[in-house]
Amino acid sequence: NKVVLAYSGGLDTSVIVRWLQDTYNCEVVTFTADIGQGEEVEPARAKAEALGVKEIYIEDLREEFVRDFVFPMFRANTVYEGEYLLGTSIARPLIAKRLVEIANETNADAISHGATGKGNDQVRFELGAYALKPGIQVIAPWREWDLNSREALMAYCEERNIPVDFSNKKKKSPYSMDANLLHISYEGGQLEDPWVEAEEDMWRWSVSPEAAPDEPTYIELTYRKGDIVAIDGVEMSPATVLETLNKLGGANGIGRADLVENRYVGMKSRGCYETPGGTIMLKAHRAIESLTLDREAAHLKDELMPRYAKLVYNGYWWSPERIMLQKAIDESQTFVNGKVRVKLYKGNAIVAGRQSDDSLFDAHIATFEDDAGAYNQKDAEGFIKLNALRMRIGANRGRKYD
Ligand code: ARG
Ligand code: SIN
Repeated sequence: NKVVLAYSGGLDTSVIVRWLQDTYNCEVVTFTADIGQGEEVEPARAKAEALGVKEIYIEDLREEFVRDFVFPMFRANTVYEGEYLLGTSIARPLIAKRLVEIANETNADAISHGATGKGNDQVRFELGAYALKPGIQVIAPWREWDLNSREALMAYCEERNIPVDFSNKKKKSPYSMDANLLHISYEGGQLEDPWVEAEEDMWRWSVSPEAAPDEPTYIELTYRKGDIVAIDGVEMSPATVLETLNKLGGANGIGRADLVENRYVGMKSRGCYETPGGTIMLKAHRAIESLTLDREAAHLKDELMPRYAKLVYNGYWWSPERIMLQKAIDESQTFVNGKVRVKLYKGNAIVAGRQSDDSLFDAHIATFEDDAGAYNQKDAEGFIKLNALRMRIGANRGRKYD
């Protein structure tokens, strides 16, 4: 028997490799992906080899991640609980998919991951895996073993001769962090007190708004079917778009969030997030939609969005209902083409202009000046009267509502 492990190369997942080998007496296949976490993935190879792993998968999934997960999610203007741009949530279904595919390729009967039993990530990995391969077995060491402290893990390493440089001690962060091209997250440590402000030196991707330049930066984003395809007229790939916006946003103090969220497993949790590129994308996408979407289509999208966000947060990416919503969302993007000009300034992404060949905005109709018959103001009279009819009938019957 064989198990495919989502392996970061860090201390925890290195311990998991050895623990799986010992506890289940199985072959471990490691899978390490570059999804833009900003750490080299290639060193994971030597580490896995040192642990006796024979089948090692190391992959660059950055383009797939942004093209097939981040961009589709941003077409819906997705935000969880009004604040969270779902940076971690949206990466999990891709990892789940690759784990299952690698299990198929290597004839493994199980997958494993390093998420704890208290969080959302376990749910996302496992719901995804079960949806894509119903018979797969899942091994979640954090729910099984008793190595529940740093000390216990270190002791286990010593006992089993796992090199301690696996612990990446060069940047021993007090936070539980997760990073990819969309965001970096911080949880735990002093953040566990929701009243305590995050220390300035916690943030890694952005300067503080106070420290951001006094001069604004203007950028022009080109949209095709709801996705950004060029920045300042330069066509670029999805991953490059996001990478570029992260840099521009971070340099201008954009995209920090500090929030308390409801985890799917029931608890509230405080987290800090930096999503510079995503914050700009959300603003700009709404701006291009404001010109190009029909009112009722736009409002329906807005009603569906919280449902969609919840599906992504809770780990239902590979569910029939998420895919059904996605088709509707993607269909709505047919005419979401054009350009948005955004001003980046001290923590703000401010829309400065929008323009589209598919615009529904008609200056002749909207104008406060003479519209030369484009709109007959007399039509509004009957429109208002018919809409008022049921309220007039009620009021005539003496109904009062208070
Ligand atoms: N609370 C966020 C979420 O559920 C971030 C989770 C971060 N995960 C991690 N393994 N550090 O999406
Ligand atoms: C974890 O438990 O691995 C991190 C937190 C989460 O998944 O929500």
